[in-house]
Amino acid sequence: MLLLGARVVAQVPDTPIIRYQDTAHPVYGAAGMVASQNLYASKAGADVLAAGGNAVDAAIAVSFSLAVTLPRAGNLGGGGFMLIHDSATGENTSIDYREMAPVGATRDMYLDKEGNVDRNRAMFSHLASGVPGTVAGLYQAHQQFGRLPWKRLLEAAIAQARYGVPVSFDLAEMLKSRQLRMCRNAATCGYFYKDGGEPYAAGELLVQSDLADTLERIANEGPDGFYKGKTAELIVDEMKRGGGLVDAESLVAYRAVDRKPVSGTYRGYEVVTMSPPSSGGVHVLQMLNTLEHFPVAEFGAGSADSIHLLAEVARLAYADRSEYLGDPDYYDVPVEWLISKEYGKELAATIDMRKARESTDVAPGVAPQPESPDTTHFSVIDADGSIVATTTTLNFSFGSAISVAGAGFLLNNEMDDFVSKPGVPNAYGLLGGEANAIAAGKRPLSSMTPTIVLADGQPWFATGSPGGSRIITSVLQMLVNVIDHGMNLAEAVNAPRMHHQWLPDILQLESGFSPDTVKILRERGHAVQESRSSMGSVQAVGFRDGVFRGASDPRRPNAASVAPAAATQ
Ligand code: DON
Repeated sequence: MLLLGARVVAQVPDTPIIRYQDTAHPVYGAAGMVASQNLYASKAGADVLAAGGNAVDAAIAVSFSLAVTLPRAGNLGGGGFMLIHDSATGENTSIDYREMAPVGATRDMYLDKEGNVDRNRAMFSHLASGVPGTVAGLYQAHQQFGRLPWKRLLEAAIAQARYGVPVSFDLAEMLKSRQLRMCRNAATCGYFYKDGGEPYAAGELLVQSDLADTLERIANEGPDGFYKGKTAELIVDEMKRGGGLVDAESLVAYRAVDRKPVSGTYRGYEVVTMSPPSSGGVHVLQMLNTLEHFPVAEFGAGSADSIHLLAEVARLAYADRSEYLGDPDYYDVPVEWLISKEYGKELAATIDMRKARESTDVAPGVAPQPESPDTTHFSVIDADGSIVATTTTLNFSFGSAISVAGAGFLLNNEMDDFVSKPGVPNAYGLLGGEANAIAAGKRPLSSMTPTIVLADGQPWFATGSPGGSRIITSVLQMLVNVIDHGMNLAEAVNAPRMHHQWLPDILQLESGFSPDTVKILRERGHAVQESRSSMGSVQAVGFRDGVFRGASDPRRPNAASVAPAAATQ
């Protein structure tokens, strides 16, 4: 923990880096905005906007660029969710390109002979990878909404991979700290380290020729350049060498899916967010419906009452997550009940503002029967007011740390987001059961929560975050900070964050909360723990009073909000 200026800023997750921003003003622009976790990726998106592309075009360009510039989370070998508000029609859509369990996946595939979960197999082996969805998802977005040619949207990424990008401070630090794990895999070591495994220093050029070739195949052939032909062969060979399950059949069977976003209202604003297989959208709406019964604005940002209340609503929501959330194609998720105003009211009535509940006293709610039916986020808004929120992930930073030799990209370890065994938490301490059990073709439950807020039908802001289980609470706090506490986007992004996820029964706080507040929270019965790492990396864009705004989280270095050049003021 360091004291920087007036504010204490916690450590970046997984990274021994401290980063801060000394202003709380968003970046302003006149004709759109891109906020992502890497400056070069944001610029690639802003260039596409300046060239006449729309928000979806820019989002595709940002995503491919992040696969080059932010290899810890940007990806070809992972998946994500893209949430879109189309200004022409006023419609909201989302594209689910979450990884799918390969054809050969089975419920107990991570259990050893004694029936215990083999964590290494679930997280760092070839078996940890689901079938990547990113290329299919981005292509589907382009088919439905794209304005500029597909090839144009890969130009920046191809050039960045072919001719190199300066290694960012963030990447240099990450590569240093992950050297051991990354160099266990010869291809990964060769792609991301100098000869013999020496990490790059910040500012040095990282050239990724195999990745450039793969991107070119995708530019020329669309998804066939990934799921078929040479790239597919390289993936299948890699899997054969390492005993993985992603075979040719699984690759060809991959489908991105259009999903109807879930939506609701919060204090009169419309909140549109991701539906299952994300758990985030459902629980953000559930928590907002509960919060609506309390005078949050009056409590004040960062007050003991506010944090206590957020912890109590999160405790309830994450308990439900463990029981009811999973891939809707395989499990009947009781979405309508969970996001109903009635259920929010019921939950609100159980909250005692003077005392924290014990999580062991909280069980998932009882759904009415029968039921009718290291990640990164970026946000883009274009001059027409179309707005896109995308969260994409390999799961851990650098995924499984295994690269597809010859193809230049890292493979995800998203299979760990499934429940390997009921009662055994995953890497984020999350519990689950039947709803999120492993099955061939199923999508692991996600916490990724790309979210758009509309005021009178017009987009106000888009937001989202990485952070594993903390994504959902990070997004919730963003909404509360802006809507209840009247913060601008940058203030809302910068404000210290809390997290509670039911079990373990711990209230995690970033540094930056007042000691008086922490004392009151302890007196109310919370097991307060100062978080060892900072929470999330929120990237937000919006439009208000005729001006586009962007705010990039200072918690992870090299994030940037960029307005299209021609329009920058
Ligand atoms: O989809 C999920 O919920 C996780 N795989 C996200 C992982 C994540 O956010 C890691 N980044 N910090």
